[in-house]
Amino acid sequence: MAPLKITKILCIGAGYVGGPTCAVIALKCPHITVTIVDLNQARIDAWNSPDFNLPIYEPGLEDVVRQCRGRNLFFSTDVDKGIREAELIFVSVNTPTKKSGVGAGFAADLNYVELATRQIAAVATTSKIVVEKSTVPCRTAESMRTILEANSKPNCRFDILSNPEFLAEGTAIADLFQPDRVLIGSLQTREGKDACAALANVYSNWVPENKILTVGLWSSELSKLAANAMLAQRISSVNALSAICEATGANIDEVAHAVGYDSRVGPKFLKASVGFGGSCFQKDILNLVYLSESLHLPEVAAYWRQVVEMNEYQKRRFSKRVVDTLFNTITGKHIAVLGFAFKADTGDTRESASITLIRDFLSERAFVNIYDPKVIESQIWLDLSEACPNMSLESIKKQVKICNSAVEAALNTEAIVIATEWKEFKAVAWTEVYEHMKKPAFVFDGRLLVDADELTKIGFKVYPSFFFFGSVHSQFDKVATIGRPTA
Ligand code: UDX
Ligand code: ADP
Repeated sequence: MAPLKITKILCIGAGYVGGPTCAVIALKCPHITVTIVDLNQARIDAWNSPDFNLPIYEPGLEDVVRQCRGRNLFFSTDVDKGIREAELIFVSVNTPTKKSGVGAGFAADLNYVELATRQIAAVATTSKIVVEKSTVPCRTAESMRTILEANSKPNCRFDILSNPEFLAEGTAIADLFQPDRVLIGSLQTREGKDACAALANVYSNWVPENKILTVGLWSSELSKLAANAMLAQRISSVNALSAICEATGANIDEVAHAVGYDSRVGPKFLKASVGFGGSCFQKDILNLVYLSESLHLPEVAAYWRQVVEMNEYQKRRFSKRVVDTLFNTITGKHIAVLGFAFKADTGDTRESASITLIRDFLSERAFVNIYDPKVIESQIWLDLSEACPNMSLESIKKQVKICNSAVEAALNTEAIVIATEWKEFKAVAWTEVYEHMKKPAFVFDGRLLVDADELTKIGFKVYPSFFFFGSVHSQFDKVATIGRPTA
């Protein structure tokens, strides 16, 4: 039997996942009407703004929206109308980590998924395929199915699919245009497989069939957590090695390069950093920890938990290095933090390492100048208020200044901290920056981004490299500095 031809798709949730994903579906499938709804009026207004001032920054996204908006792509707050009209509904709402109650700090808060599911059940008068797009713990589809079946009307059936999104922010559009794979999970019943074929048929408009993988529902849900856990594990491993490098005089970039040359390991996700951030890695690993504990697998839980703990250690280690290097105190000193987003090419700040660093600097009573090319000012104040519950926003604002350029942020500071790998930080007018800073002028490169040799020639003391010049005291100092110039 030929798969059901979908002509109307609804996406509930106009965020980082739902927005770009469904905009690309609209672009690639002009015969399908795609409506994206959200409860947040301001977000929808931004998606609909006449000058395409979209609510999220993602390279290439504006171009996609310009081509489809008003043609077969619509943004609205009318969730009920959207549900009534759609044949297939993506549930792409937020699933933050629970802040209280059972599983607090680990389990995903499924409240938004549940509310959206209940709304679908209450409003739908015809059969629908309901697709979980948000990253959810294993077996969430089962709960969605129970809610939908218990509340459905006669002649109205719901098929549930899991279709996790593997896009990374900053490269979302490229990832969606040419995904490594599309994963669709369904019940292995005839109806389940038919629903799966209908969704596969949508993707086959641009994705080669051999890249569309169809699996069972639970495998699909677990694969998303597994993929993120494996990627994050690589970063925590390389960051753990970076601590050893620092204590021995090895260079982590060289080590990662050598290791990555082994084709069985591969070069990606081996970049040592100040620690990973983003809305997925920490949340998904903690989810996996919670799942392992619920399944009475404490060793498995401890193993994955350590990946997150290593990330916390890396952030702590970095801020401690800043304090130690600035002669054991940063009280009253001025530090420029370049980058506030959790990675380059996004305005998203969720779990950004930058927030943790700035919180630490503020608690040491330092003054911080922040510059990020894409993060909006109100978001920075919101994040810092959340990160520093013991400080009023007023007192935070006394210690923090938001700047319009890297040069402005560096003015009269003792140190620069690079927290996000924005390309433009490589091209900063470093000689000019040096002239405007207090001396000695330190650069702490949390992303191994800048050319340490070049900056050292200008006069900067660059971490991690200044280790080689004997500034960091370790038991290996003598070994490490043999044959190398001293400061
Ligand atoms: C991640 C997954 O890559 C994606 O497949 C999934 O769908 C969602 O989660 P994302 O969080 O958007 O995507 O960004 P990613 O590029 O994976 O980076 C995550 C964090 O790790 C960032 O803070 C990044 O700077 C850091 N990172 C990444 C490193 O520190 N080193 C690396 O080698 C790679
Ligand atoms: P993600 O990164 O997973 O896309 P976001 O937080 O960026 O997460 O986006 C999720 C969006 O879902 C938010 O804009 C939120 O307002 C929206 N949302 C949550 N619950 C509902 C709901 N029941 N109906 C419509 N939109 C919802």
